[in-house]
Amino acid sequence: MSTSREHLSAPDGEQASSPLLTVRDLTIRFPKAEPVTGLSFSVAAGETLAIVGESGSGKSLTALALMRLLPRTARIAGGQALFEGEDLLQVSNRRMRELRAQRIAMIFQEPMTSLNPVRSIGWQIAEVLRQHEGLSARQARARAIELLDLVRIPDPQRRIDDFPHHLSGGMRQRVMIAIAVACSPRLLIADEPTTALDVTIQAQVLDLLDRLRRELSMGVVLITHDLGIVAQWADRVVVMYAGREVEQALPGPLFDTPMHPYTQGLLAASPRLRPGHHYRDGPLTEIPGSITSAIGQPGCAFAPRCPAVQASCRERVPPLVDIGHGRFAACPIVAPPAKAGAPAVAAPILPLTGDARTHHGAAAHVAIAGH
Ligand SMILES: Nc1ncnc2c1ncn2[C@@H]1O[C@H](COP(=O)(O)OP(=O)(O)OP(=O)(O)O)[C@@H](O)[C@H]1O
Ligand code: SF4
Ligand SMILES: [Mg+2]
Repeated sequence: MSTSREHLSAPDGEQASSPLLTVRDLTIRFPKAEPVTGLSFSVAAGETLAIVGESGSGKSLTALALMRLLPRTARIAGGQALFEGEDLLQVSNRRMRELRAQRIAMIFQEPMTSLNPVRSIGWQIAEVLRQHEGLSARQARARAIELLDLVRIPDPQRRIDDFPHHLSGGMRQRVMIAIAVACSPRLLIADEPTTALDVTIQAQVLDLLDRLRRELSMGVVLITHDLGIVAQWADRVVVMYAGREVEQALPGPLFDTPMHPYTQGLLAASPRLRPGHHYRDGPLTEIPGSITSAIGQPGCAFAPRCPAVQASCRERVPPLVDIGHGRFAACPIVAPPAKAGAPAVAAPILPLTGDARTHHGAAAHVAIAGH
């Protein structure tokens, strides 16, 4: 299975190049909650890693932790985030400001909250270039026009003097991307960058991010709850549930044979997977219950909602296990700890059902509720 994207990760899960960012055991705590626990993943230069999961699974806090922009009440309780040899969780505030200015950028979901309403978009882009690249006012304006052109804002010479309220949502998001890539970052973290946009504009913005990823050889962490976006734009996928990683795989295998019951539920509940990738037109099946049922539960956080739950699931948190071929899953039923002679990839526990199709005919629709 391959998507339209050229996958930068080798089929066996080895990355095409050494990781740009390696996150190990990231744990985030509030005084009374631990929204992210023991999260580990890596991103290579030129790779898009998608982090997917329901609302409240800890995706944004993970992004904010990497940028060292967590809310005051949150603290990093453990882990490492090695970026080009430096631990983002340990570097000084001053160094982090430098990194945020020049090496790592983040795009937020809602551009109006990030753009200054009383400054022209040209001023806002040029300001970044003056501050961090040392350009003169004239050089910065010329470069800002180039950047607006790069993100395909029509007539950039004229639009540079527009204010944010003159622009549509899609255009504002492009301006945010222009600001984010102004200093050619090595790593771009995009947290639901297109949720506020309609589907056509969404595709244009994601295509733009993808082009910039290739041209600038950026590593991209793409946070989304939309599996259609994952199918089209991700090279690798981390599935989060209640602050933990429950599955990691290349998109093709993940959609063809989702291993973790939560991933199976997400797929069954996904309203649109794109034609040419994994198109399904059967009825949608919701995952019963909500993520809040995980709060305070011992053992597997998905147990209250899992159709395959067993008594032992409530005893201990299942570890993430390497099940071979670059896949990892945290469920002892689908991913038993490796034993000598065990098959490299365990079979999905739930029957594949429905009339889902992928472009090469494999079933991708897995019922989780009422199976
Ligand atoms: N400032 C805060 N104080 C207390 N709890 C918080 C705070 N910010 C987030 N949380 C909690 O941490 C958990 C993870 O939040 P996070 O914003 O990372 O989720 P998410 O996966 O990004 O969800 P969404 O898809 O809705 O954006 C949620 O339960 C949320 O309520
Ligand atoms: S560990 Fe148990 S409850 Fe958790 S996903 Fe696996 S089967 Fe379901
Ligand atoms: Mg979020």
